Amino acid sequence: MSQQTLGRKTAANGQYFAVEPASPDKRRIVEVSLRGRSVRLETSHGVFCGGGLDRGTAVLLRHVPSPPKTGVFLDLGCGWGPIAIAMALESPHADVWAVDVNERAMSLTASNARRCGAGNVHAVVDRGLPVGLRFDLMWSNPPIRIGKDALHALLGEYLPRLSEDGMAYFVVQHHLGSDSLMAWINHDLDGFQASRYASSKGYRVLKVVREC
Ligand SMILES: C[S@@+](CC[C@H](N)C(=O)[O-])C[C@H]1O[C@@H](n2cnc3c(N)ncnc32)[C@H](O)[C@@H]1O
Repeated sequence: MSQQTLGRKTAANGQYFAVEPASPDKRRIVEVSLRGRSVRLETSHGVFCGGGLDRGTAVLLRHVPSPPKTGVFLDLGCGWGPIAIAMALESPHADVWAVDVNERAMSLTASNARRCGAGNVHAVVDRGLPVGLRFDLMWSNPPIRIGKDALHALLGEYLPRLSEDGMAYFVVQHHLGSDSLMAWINHDLDGFQASRYASSKGYRVLKVVREC
């Protein structure tokens, strides 16, 4: 295990973003609606919102425009997989990459994708993405709880992987800093423009594109 992984594991102990969650892996089935498709997916303890679909995720899925039919997509911080699976079912000819630091989450995403017949989902731990892969579309409910500096580092690492015409949509709770995240992207992250795309139930959906 690398020093970096070891560091994250220790710092996040007991959190949904721990590499190896400490809580017992008690699986359960939840029924969720993903952009009009009702699916039964497996969740567990030690992963984000294991009881069902998070409200912010539901807002994101309700408001984002339809994804293109093909392309390379990313769900950054996939948890047990609702966003990646929604993208994959809607665009079965696209390649959908799902990444997470939490190994239990990542393995749930992989098995949930199989369970729904979404064979176009590639679930990997965060360092497992092919080097040089670019994304035409990112949908994410990002891990705000890792702290502002870590979140900025994460987005600073992944946004530059957007393709030239690529777009990213992030859902962030207003109380948890959606406006300050938008300001950071617009003023401190070179080459990207963020705007408020939708607003619902205390959440903002931010749209990020490359600056012209
Ligand atoms: C707010 S949760 C969203 C989970 C899922 N997409 C959903 O909507 O239910 C954010 C996710 O990001 C993951 N995460 C935290 N740090 C990460 C990192 N450095 N790289 C990738 N994923 C990370 C967490 O483990 C968590 O599963």
